[in-house]
Amino acid sequence: MKTRLQPSAFSLQTWISFVTNFRSLVTGGAGFIGSELVRQLVDRGADVVVVDNLVNGRPENLEGIDPARCRLVVADVRDGAAMADAMAGVDVVFHLACLGVRHSLHSPRENHDVNATATLDLLSRARTAGVGRFVYVSSSEVYGTARRVPMDETHATFPTTVYGASKLAGECYTRAFHATYEYATVVVRPFNAFGPRCHHEGDSGEVIPKFLLRALAGRPLIVFGDGTQTRDFTFVSDTAAGILAAGLADAAVGHTINLGSGRSVSIEALAHTIGRVVGRPIEIAHDEPRPGDVHDLCADASKAASLLRFTSSVTLEDGIRRLQAWYLASGTPLETLLANDRVRNWVA
Ligand SMILES: NC(=O)c1ccc[n+]([C@@H]2O[C@H](COP(=O)([O-])OP(=O)(O)OC[C@H]3O[C@@H](n4cnc5c(N)ncnc54)[C@H](O)[C@@H]3O)[C@@H](O)[C@H]2O)c1
Repeated sequence: MKTRLQPSAFSLQTWISFVTNFRSLVTGGAGFIGSELVRQLVDRGADVVVVDNLVNGRPENLEGIDPARCRLVVADVRDGAAMADAMAGVDVVFHLACLGVRHSLHSPRENHDVNATATLDLLSRARTAGVGRFVYVSSSEVYGTARRVPMDETHATFPTTVYGASKLAGECYTRAFHATYEYATVVVRPFNAFGPRCHHEGDSGEVIPKFLLRALAGRPLIVFGDGTQTRDFTFVSDTAAGILAAGLADAAVGHTINLGSGRSVSIEALAHTIGRVVGRPIEIAHDEPRPGDVHDLCADASKAASLLRFTSSVTLEDGIRRLQAWYLASGTPLETLLANDRVRNWVA
């Protein structure tokens, strides 16, 4: 790798702009956060190989990215031969490919295979191939519900879903590779991300895009449970910048680092914020709680601030406005966007 910078001398935005002649592999790079990470890497002069089997990702998410700098390989991260090929000459692996929380409710074994076992295999493969660094993108779901807020990285990990458990297993393997082999690994734990290309559809659908599209269409916003659950939402460009920084900052190696805004909001209050953004009265309806839903999540992001110079620069309301503008600019009719809207988008 050409450039390794000590972050202390620069702001995050300044020093990540130094990335040139940097070759990275982004698994899950056709997905929501992955495609934003790829965009930021390419914008800063890096070359990127994306591996994604497109089960939830879309090639369209990579539209507008310089094809000379970004190659999409449609493959499964469980395919050893394909992964060995994709890793040739790579400086940093950013491992984001995974199956989500609602998938884990109906297919726990496959969820574990992709999220945990494939992570272990990728770590072995990356180390053998001489890849300089491995960044594992975990999740705040490893904590389970907050026992204290804000949650720093020493907070207990008691995941409530197989998804959270499988992400925790992936983390443990990643840390073990650092402890056992002195391999340069980093674990980041994003809290809930939102923004352009987030999932509103099917069992991948997340609360902000679902609420926003329903509010725009004048449909009721469906809150699972009483709406007092709280979440820490981070705009996707901030989340991706934090992940990118974890691939560069030497101080991050061997660490596990939260990526969150440090501000939490209840789901009920979120619904009202969305009502304010769309500028019309909203109707809220309540449904059964989702199985395994954690009650509270709120990051202490001070470690990310000190090791990565991470900041959550986009506020919740501003981020929702940007997402609304992105939907409107896409020109896709609301009926099309809402065609695959499933209110209860899980099968337990
Ligand atoms: N979105 C959030 O709020 C959030 C919060 C915390 C952590 N994360 C983590 O960030 C990462 C990215 O999440 P996202 O929200 O962008 O999800 P996403 O579903 O949009 O992205 C995951 C990508 O992985 C791909 N994929 C799934 N299984 C695969 C396989 N077997 N082989 C190859 N590719 C496969 C999917 O097609 C998809 O493009 C995940 O690791 C997730 O755990 C996300």
